Amino acid sequence: MEIPFAESWKIKMVEPIHKSTREEREQWIKEAHYNVFQLKAQQVYIDLLTDSGTGAMSDRQWAGIMLGDESYAGATSFFKFKDMITSLTGFEYVIPTHQGRAAENVLFSYLVHEGDIVPGNSHFDTTKGHIEGRKAIALDCTIDEAKDTQLEVPFKGNVDPVKLEKALAEHADRVPFIIVTITNNTAGGQPVSMQNLKEVRSIADKYHTPVVFDSARFAENAYFIKTREKGYENKTIKEIVKEMFSYADGMTMSAKKDAIVNMGGFIATHLKDWYEGAKGYCVQFEGYLTYGGMNGRDMNALAIGLDENTEFNNLETRIKQVEYLAKKLDEYGIPYQRPAGGHAIFIDADKVLTHVPKEEFPAQTLTVELYLEAGIRGCEIGYLLADRDPVTRQNRFGGLDFLRLAIPRRVYTDNHMNVIAAALKNVYDRREQITHGVRIAWEAPIMRHFTVQLERI
Ligand code: F0G
Repeated sequence: MEIPFAESWKIKMVEPIHKSTREEREQWIKEAHYNVFQLKAQQVYIDLLTDSGTGAMSDRQWAGIMLGDESYAGATSFFKFKDMITSLTGFEYVIPTHQGRAAENVLFSYLVHEGDIVPGNSHFDTTKGHIEGRKAIALDCTIDEAKDTQLEVPFKGNVDPVKLEKALAEHADRVPFIIVTITNNTAGGQPVSMQNLKEVRSIADKYHTPVVFDSARFAENAYFIKTREKGYENKTIKEIVKEMFSYADGMTMSAKKDAIVNMGGFIATHLKDWYEGAKGYCVQFEGYLTYGGMNGRDMNALAIGLDENTEFNNLETRIKQVEYLAKKLDEYGIPYQRPAGGHAIFIDADKVLTHVPKEEFPAQTLTVELYLEAGIRGCEIGYLLADRDPVTRQNRFGGLDFLRLAIPRRVYTDNHMNVIAAALKNVYDRREQITHGVRIAWEAPIMRHFTVQLERI
């Protein structure tokens, strides 16, 4: 008999989670104005809101916590953190920050100015926010294939070289850098191939433009290169990571994802002038240069997390769990962004709730239905999150409308995946009866999805 695949770790500490009744959930979601961000975590059974800061640290990481050096300046923890980043990426200069968006804020304060254009694959919301907030343009040059959820291509997160080259040919003087998000979260946790990173580099060189990687899930990206791209099958994840970063000039990192810590981030680069230019903003916004908003203990845990999560076994366990859930959904015929991404499954809500019009937010409606069904909290990455057009104030219905099920790292078992799949199947089976969605009762002018108040129609 073939020995089945199993996790590359065992469980040393557990945290109870709570089931609830449908009546309780009806009450709670109503009190939360049908916005899952407003629920109390205790009211959630399985929490798939995000994979950010929600992973389980290892025994080695917890040991690192105890060894934290909390000196204000020059702590040993900073050097462990910096040396790990330099050894993985080759970048000599490292600036710590408290999370990913803080790294964006510090670096972009130096690099992005009014009227600039920053092309790349799909910019994450905070990245876009930090660009648009400086009156610059975030230009999405993702390949068109990413928009067809049923198309099965191995590197659906890629930058379209033709779109990128066009942007540079027209506006190179206004482009402070190109940004490549690995993996491409917005397109469904989809990876970018090594070939594509090389192509971006050669276009960048032609126009003398630097390249930044938004690296939140770079290790998962490396796993996909190893398992899907020819020529990389015998390389280690660490070798692949080193090659990936050789095509960039710098990186911003939300360590809450692939470094498996609850809080943390950084900038790293080989450009001395970027370091010199950005470091003052770190001191101003984050803290002194050897802690940047982090505790010494957290920098220790972060360094160990990076080391562990650039090992194949850890990544294989994680990504196979996401695939396991995807296979269950295939069995039930539930449509999602194919193939399954690295950190999440993105359910194509438009294709599920075909009777709910766009104006009534199908993905948000599905998010609420899944919560009501089994206390599972997903997250809408769709028309609500897309906000209104800043000029016309119309809702932006042009993109995709997803319910994202983000899987925290090393937290849930495959039994939890079975519960998620069964709950989704139940909702899917009664999809024809779901004919009404939600309407907005109150919304903030930007980033409305966190605080929006909704009513059921
Ligand atoms: N870049 C990417 C690709 C991200 O996914 C995130 C966060 C950030 C930057 C910002 O990092 O949260 O540490 O400030 N993504 C989370 C998510 C919030 O749920 O996808 P942060």
